[in-house]
Amino acid sequence: MKLTDDEKSMLDGNEGKAVGKAMELLVKYGEALGAGRFVDTNNVTLLSGLFMYPEVVKNTVKNFEMDEIASKFFLDSDETVHVDKIKAFTTNHIFTVNNAYWKNIQRRSHTLARLAVMTEAYCRAIGVNNTATCSPYIAGNLPVKGQHCAWTESSAIPFANAVIGARTNIEGCHSAFASALTGKTPYWGMHIEENRYGNLIVDVETDPGNMFEWGLLGYYVAGVCGLKIPIYRDIRRPPTMSMLMPFDAAGGSSGSIIMYHIVGVTPEAATLEAATGNRNVTDRIRYGKKERSEAYRKLNRSKSDKVDIVFLGCPHYSIESIANVARLIDGKAVNVNTQLYVTTNRQTKVLADLGGYTETIAKAGGLLLADTCGLEFNHDPSAVIATDSPKQAHYYPGKCGVENALYGQIEECIDAAVSGKWKGELR
Ligand code: F3S
Repeated sequence: MKLTDDEKSMLDGNEGKAVGKAMELLVKYGEALGAGRFVDTNNVTLLSGLFMYPEVVKNTVKNFEMDEIASKFFLDSDETVHVDKIKAFTTNHIFTVNNAYWKNIQRRSHTLARLAVMTEAYCRAIGVNNTATCSPYIAGNLPVKGQHCAWTESSAIPFANAVIGARTNIEGCHSAFASALTGKTPYWGMHIEENRYGNLIVDVETDPGNMFEWGLLGYYVAGVCGLKIPIYRDIRRPPTMSMLMPFDAAGGSSGSIIMYHIVGVTPEAATLEAATGNRNVTDRIRYGKKERSEAYRKLNRSKSDKVDIVFLGCPHYSIESIANVARLIDGKAVNVNTQLYVTTNRQTKVLADLGGYTETIAKAGGLLLADTCGLEFNHDPSAVIATDSPKQAHYYPGKCGVENALYGQIEECIDAAVSGKWKGELR
């Protein structure tokens, strides 16, 4: 890679060992990707508190302290280096556990609870903003069109690219941390205008008008589009942010959509011509009744009508969605055999607390919690879980061993929480 003077200086260790290690990692990464240079970034979301294999962490490090853990697991360095302060504006992704609920509700290990406390303190000390969310754009991290970012989390990345018009690839734990330390990210993929044009037209014949329908559309298209960049056209009712959140999450579940265009909505797709970069795109798929049913069938695996858990808030709910849950559950009671959980980030939870929504949900017997996610609970594999999130319905079998997942409208999920029974159907 061609390095600028400041990049060479960081690589030579002139800004300390940790920055030198970060630059070394980024150079190797950039070269493997075929990037010719770096681009400056002042917007990073880290994967810093989500530990998939806590026992590996415990067994790998000697003293179980953060410099050691960060060196090994965030910088891929056997040598322990100390990070003073990061360079770029940085937020972080969810933590594996919420520290008030890790034991009795999430049923996770004490090691994870310790890691969550340690990670949070470490991040604060080095200058990372502990948003602890998969929806950074509703928690104070809102880049602008054209801004180069280094984000993690498969649902947030298409949101950044296609809804905001910012530019990010899918970064991992190591590359994002290195970007936070250096303010650099390899210039390739979605950072380059040329690579952002759409190359697959999706003729949307069944117009989505709510979160549920957008989830089905995203889930179906991601499952068939491979690495193409879809262009959705014929959308008659423009989506809201809360509709695009599950749509983006679905696109990163059945497939790997990191960029798409909705003509008239995506900042780079005012017209079909703008979305394609004036190219003649001949690849086309349709999304009609048959495709919608196929997506629904794949997301509804349970044969039982009994529901043990209702999980809402994936990606972390917006205040609009939390207010909707509170409205739907107000004055009702969650069934004694069913649990209702709603997840969001800390910032939105404060708004929900102030608005009385947290209390309304709690009065009904549900729990609104921040920091974590339904996939990070130690669920009983025989449980039946209903959700309004295509991403969670997709991942419950593989990630949690829960085969019985159900996907439905928010109203159907609330009804299931109250009655303990699933009455959802594709109408
Ligand atoms: Fe967020 Fe978990 Fe969904 S991290 S996107 S709530 S699967």
